Amino acid sequence: MTKQETFQKEFENHVKEGLTNFPKYLSSKYIYDDKGDKLFQQIMELPEYYLTQSEYNIIDNHKIDLRQLFQAPGGFDLIELGAGDGKKTKVLLKELIENQVDFIYKPIDISQSSINELSASLKNSFPTLHVQGEQGTYFAVLKELAAYNKRPKVILVLGSNIGNLQHPDAIDFLTQLKDVMGKDDILFMGFDQKKNPLTIQNAYSDSQGVTQEFNRNLLHRVNKEMDANFPVDLFEHWEAYNPETGTAASYLIATQACTVTIKALQMEVSFDQWETIHTEISQKYDDNTVEWLATTAGLQITKSYTDDKQYFKNYIFKVKA
Ligand code: AVJ
Repeated sequence: MTKQETFQKEFENHVKEGLTNFPKYLSSKYIYDDKGDKLFQQIMELPEYYLTQSEYNIIDNHKIDLRQLFQAPGGFDLIELGAGDGKKTKVLLKELIENQVDFIYKPIDISQSSINELSASLKNSFPTLHVQGEQGTYFAVLKELAAYNKRPKVILVLGSNIGNLQHPDAIDFLTQLKDVMGKDDILFMGFDQKKNPLTIQNAYSDSQGVTQEFNRNLLHRVNKEMDANFPVDLFEHWEAYNPETGTAASYLIATQACTVTIKALQMEVSFDQWETIHTEISQKYDDNTVEWLATTAGLQITKSYTDDKQYFKNYIFKVKA
C-alpha cells in the first residue's frame, strides 16, 4: 500500500469507529485536504484568531536570540512538524540566512500540497536555502528523525498544534520527540495560553462562519471520499471553551434528525435532532501544565518567550539532564 492508501484506510476505519460510538466523534486531523488547508489559511487571517499573529510577534521580536540559540559551529538541521504555509517560520529562516548560518530546513506536513506550495515559495524567496520537504503524519515521521543525528537539530512545532491532543497523547508525543533528541538538540514549541474565556471562545466561533466551514469539511470529505450523503448544511458548528480545564471543544450538531448512508463503508448512521459529533479539542495551557507535560516526558524547559498581550508562549525544551 502507498502512504496515501494507508492514510485513506485509516480514515475509513476512523469514520466507522467514530460514527458508531456514543457520543459520536470524528478527528480534526482529517479536516486537512486541499480545501481544509485553504480554510485553515483563512482562519489564520481572521481578526478573532489571535494565535497566528501572537506567535508571529514572538518569533519576530526574538529572532536574534533564537538564531544565537539555534546556530551551531558545524551547522544544524531545522526540522518543522506541521509546517503548513510557513508564514511564521519564514521570519526565522530570513534571520538565519541573512546571517550566513549553516543549516538545512526540513518542513514536514500531513498535506502534500502544503509541502509543494511551501517548497516553491521558499525557492522563490530564499534561492540559497537547502529545503527537504516531506509529506507525512507526525507519527510516521518521528521515527525517521532519529537519523538526523550527525549534527545538532532543532525541532519546531508551532501554532499550538499540540493543543489538538489530550494530555496523555501530548505526553506520548513529547516523549517520542525526546526519544529522538540528543543532548544538544532543541525543541521549540508553541502553546496557546489560558486567557479571557471570551477571547478563546470567539477565536473558535468567528462571525464570518469560516470555522464552521472548516469543521464541516470533515463531512464534505466523508461525502466525497466514501460516497456518503451527509446533509452538511443541517450540521451546525458549536464551540465550548471550559476555563477550568482549558479545553476548547468543537462539535457539529444535527439541527434535525437525519439518516446518512455511507456507501463505501456499507453503513447507515442515524442522528437524533441535536445529536453531536465531537470533532476537535484545542487545549489552552499555563506554565504549570506545560512544565508537568515536559517533565513527565523527560524534557526540561530552559527558556520561554511570550507576546505583549501574553496570549501565547513558545518554550525551549531540552532533554532532561
Ligand atoms: C491548527 C490545531 C492549531 O486548534 O487552534 C483553528 C486548528 N481549529 N480553528 C487550533 C483550528 C479551529 C488549530 N490548530
